[in-house]
Amino acid sequence: MQILDFIVRSNEALNNQNYLLKVAPTDSSTLPVMYPGQFVQILVDNSSHVFLRRPISINFVDRGKNEIWLLIQRVGEGTEKICNIPVGGIINLIYPLGNSFTLPEKKGKYLLVAGGVGTAPMLFLGKEMKENGFEPEFLLGGRSEKDILQRAHFERYGTLYCTTEDGSLGEKGFVTHHPVLKEKKYDFIYTCGPKPMMVAVARYAREQGIGCEVSLENLMACGFGACLCCVEKTVRGNICACTEGPVFNINELFW
Ligand code: FES
Repeated sequence: MQILDFIVRSNEALNNQNYLLKVAPTDSSTLPVMYPGQFVQILVDNSSHVFLRRPISINFVDRGKNEIWLLIQRVGEGTEKICNIPVGGIINLIYPLGNSFTLPEKKGKYLLVAGGVGTAPMLFLGKEMKENGFEPEFLLGGRSEKDILQRAHFERYGTLYCTTEDGSLGEKGFVTHHPVLKEKKYDFIYTCGPKPMMVAVARYAREQGIGCEVSLENLMACGFGACLCCVEKTVRGNICACTEGPVFNINELFW
């Protein structure tokens, strides 16, 4: 775990609520090893109200450019300030934090299901899977077409299926309504997004006898096990999602 200043190399609005920041260490040090599912804690500078860092999933690691991509959803004063950092601005990160998704060990059919900004870690996971010889399939959901982010990037790493609540892209409805879940038999499912979506995906996986990992988006303040605000009830007892997670096998959860 490191605390380091990064320079914002680009800041792109993907829609009116989500921004993609590409950042690189100001000291030009080489990025450490990072795994899909891990996250960073971003310091919110120049705020008299926001004292806590904001936990953000690692969206992508571009080793060639020594950049981390961070997909930020603007939902309050803290994330608003982060989204407003201009190119050339400085952002301070504690990173990498948390555990990671379990990469497959043998060939099979792997489905990565995500909704909203929960798609962020799935791009990094899909890239790692593809580079390790797997063919991931993605099932992404959102309210409408503009909410399904980074489609061209996902298509580089695997087959992409989409659902939208208004039917403007892909199948109309929620991810769990997509016909691919009936047509294909998957060996393992990874999921991240709003809790009701993840619970529905976990229920589907359990009914079908498919292994499944979820990335919890519990409230997080410190990010390293000190404040206990991220505690999740599991078969191992009450544990911190920030240090023992955010990724859990559904067999560990009471969902
Ligand atoms: Fe503080 Fe997990 S965020 S203990």
